[in-house]
Amino acid sequence: MIIVIIGAQWGDEGKGKVVDLLADRFDIVSRYQGGHNAGHSVYVGDRAFVLRLLPSGIIHPDKTCVLGNGMVIDPKAFFEEVDQIAQQGIDVTPERLKVSSRAHLIMPYHRALDHTSEERLGNEKIGTTLRGIGPAYEDKAGRRGIRVADALSPDILKLRVERNLEEANRIIALFGNQPLRADEILEEITPLIERLRPFVAETSHFLSEAKKAGKKILLEGAQATLLDVDHGTYPYVTSSNPTAGGASVGAGIPPHHITGVLGIVRTYATRVGEGPFPTEMLDEEESMANLIRERGNEYGSVTRRPRRCGWFDAVATRYAAELNGFDSIALTKLDVLDALEEIKVCIGYEIAGERVDTFPAVSYDLSQIKPVYETLAGWQSNTVGVTQFDKLPELAQKYVRFLSDQIGVEIGLISTGPERDQTVILKDSVMEGWFSE
Ligand code: GDP
Ligand code: IMO
Ligand code: MG
Repeated sequence: MIIVIIGAQWGDEGKGKVVDLLADRFDIVSRYQGGHNAGHSVYVGDRAFVLRLLPSGIIHPDKTCVLGNGMVIDPKAFFEEVDQIAQQGIDVTPERLKVSSRAHLIMPYHRALDHTSEERLGNEKIGTTLRGIGPAYEDKAGRRGIRVADALSPDILKLRVERNLEEANRIIALFGNQPLRADEILEEITPLIERLRPFVAETSHFLSEAKKAGKKILLEGAQATLLDVDHGTYPYVTSSNPTAGGASVGAGIPPHHITGVLGIVRTYATRVGEGPFPTEMLDEEESMANLIRERGNEYGSVTRRPRRCGWFDAVATRYAAELNGFDSIALTKLDVLDALEEIKVCIGYEIAGERVDTFPAVSYDLSQIKPVYETLAGWQSNTVGVTQFDKLPELAQKYVRFLSDQIGVEIGLISTGPERDQTVILKDSVMEGWFSE
């Protein structure tokens, strides 16, 4: 069994919580794209973890974790996280953590280029996490990137760093920033690469053998559908493919080996950074945005940036369901809406006076989109920690059913709090099947 977990909105849907919950039923958890731009929070009792590069399965001591070929890996960030997790009592050994020899490395000049590029864009900036993600993927597509396997040969590493830095420094200096020095980079990176060496593996072969042996594999998407470089709100996207097709490429497994796709959907929407967000709560809805931000703790888990908040957007989520082929949906953060008297759901768009029910490829012109809302009554009672669907207030059940009808996909899991056991698994759902298999 291979199941992919994918964010359906603009990220931070609660993928970490759901992966952690499901990991118990799986043998291997693998990331397939992105890098430490992700921030997946997991709460276990009184311990809080924020996973950036490492799969959320890492906190289960008996699970093997994989960093797939589609990822971009900053060796410094990698070991900071490994050491941080070790301090929290989690042992991370090469036996249970495999890093793809084909993954690309994020180098210090990628971080510098990310800064330079954002400064240069000024008002049109993407609002990236400044982790060097975009520039590392640019080098990959430009066929000058440094893969983990290349870095294991000191001579090749030196050659590539010197060559790539020459070009990077020209851009960095052109915009008045401090050029970097190859010897300093090599001095910093070389011991990290040596420490990385035992973790390096042929991960797609490893996953293939694991599948043959009947092991269950969970593929953990980072970022989300609307941040996908092909399908998201380009150019306000990340530089990888979080969508289901990306899971096959980025983990190095055949597409038909994937047994199911689980979409993670919040009961409302958020976005960090710049870019179109049709249902954003602005102006007179600002106090609603503040309420949700506080109740939902909507601050970036990596950057602590306040997340922009908006109403649930069924047009965008239907689009995500169609692109990824969601078999089931995990609906998170139901409890955050407990206090609301009324809840709006965007069921369509109006563009230039015309009703549109599909997600259009617009970027700058999103101001032309007028969401068409349906307003539902709020339940105004406490759902925190509820574990059975029929124990939810009638109006909350109605809201969940309404979202499922709007998306056209079953909701198989409802999350009623950040903790593992604050979860409803819907009886007879596809999700329940995966859970009990
Ligand atoms: P991810 O990037 O998709 O893994 O999501 P993040 O971890 O960045 O953000 C989701 C936040 O919501 C985290 O702080 C989670 O602990 C929290 N969370 C997840 N599910 C629920 C829920 O059902 N209710 C509440 N109140 N918080 C939740
Ligand atoms: P998780 O996995 C939310 C956003 C950034 C920016 C854009 C590009 O926790 O859901 P990048 O640094 O990737 O080049 O930035 O993508 N972004 C995220 N937003 N959650 C994430 O990850 C994100 N990762 C990147 O804010 O708008
Ligand atoms: Mg996050």
